[in-house]
Amino acid sequence: MPPTAADLAGRTFIVTGANSGIGRVTAATLAERGAQVFLACRSVGKGEAVAAPLRAGGAKAEVLHLDLADLASVRGAAATFLARDLPLHGLINNAGLAGTRALTRDGFELTFGVNHLGHFLLTRLLEARLRASAPARVVNVASGAHRSAKGIDFTVLREPARSPGALREYGVSKLANVLFTRELARRWAGSGVTAYALHPGVVATGIWRRLPGPLRWLITRFMISPEEGAGTTIFCATAPELAGVSGRYYDRQGESTPSAVAQDDALAARLWDESEKLVGLPP
Ligand SMILES: NC(=O)c1ccc[n+]([C@@H]2O[C@H](COP(=O)([O-])OP(=O)(O)OC[C@H]3O[C@@H](n4cnc5c(N)ncnc54)[C@H](OP(=O)(O)O)[C@@H]3O)[C@@H](O)[C@H]2O)c1
Repeated sequence: MPPTAADLAGRTFIVTGANSGIGRVTAATLAERGAQVFLACRSVGKGEAVAAPLRAGGAKAEVLHLDLADLASVRGAAATFLARDLPLHGLINNAGLAGTRALTRDGFELTFGVNHLGHFLLTRLLEARLRASAPARVVNVASGAHRSAKGIDFTVLREPARSPGALREYGVSKLANVLFTRELARRWAGSGVTAYALHPGVVATGIWRRLPGPLRWLITRFMISPEEGAGTTIFCATAPELAGVSGRYYDRQGESTPSAVAQDDALAARLWDESEKLVGLPP
């Protein structure tokens, strides 16, 4: 049955990286379907440029400042949201970057720090609210690029990326998204909070901004649109048939099998433990 206009009325979502690309379409779609949506963005101005027209159209959309490259900002965003005393039915960990060799404010490799660690901390800080709002979902926007990673070298996470275009580090960060989803499902089993990882497709968005202009222009012609790219995220966040299903990986709005290493339960458990130490959470 196609969703009705206001089928998400009374539901509250946070979408990270909602000012651009897949996150922008995800946030707008959820808001247009009646949900209250927090657009968690590092630039409040860019977030407002998306949220203000949604509000003008009668939707409930507001910006939450969040810089995933700064764990103090992640803590601040979680505290700001929790202070609102609202339920949280969906946390969409969508923000991501590729192709940059740098460190986060806390000294972590930027790709891993933003794509995984910031989201790990945000999710854990919102855990109690998600549990209290169950049924609730955590959706981690991963990538088919997780298949390029053969494992996680925990000894290099405080060094800038070394590989050409930081592609290897991107693959590792996306592997971490899939493993985190798997471990969330295991640790939060029975809580009513379910977790999903997904590949959105190859989508013409800002993620390709570091490619040379003519090449970017050429290859993005062959990619799917952000509207199509948001389809699997929205499916994971809202599909009634996924109620109670947790820890799986999706592609093209259907379940898919992630790489063998992304199904390694020992690695998933280790990633959780190491991430706790890195972000300073008690075990
Ligand atoms: N496009 C694809 O083909 C593709 C394929 C597989 C997976 N994905 C995944 O899809 C997700 C969305 O990416 P996209 O393709 O929509 O790219 P995008 O248009 O570049 O959007 C990425 C979003 O992440 C935000 N972001 C980056 N660094 C951040 C930080 N430190 N704190 C908070 N937000 C930050 C960006 O904010 P700014 O605008 O301020 O930079 C932007 O809103 C990513 O996780 C990406 O890995 C994309």
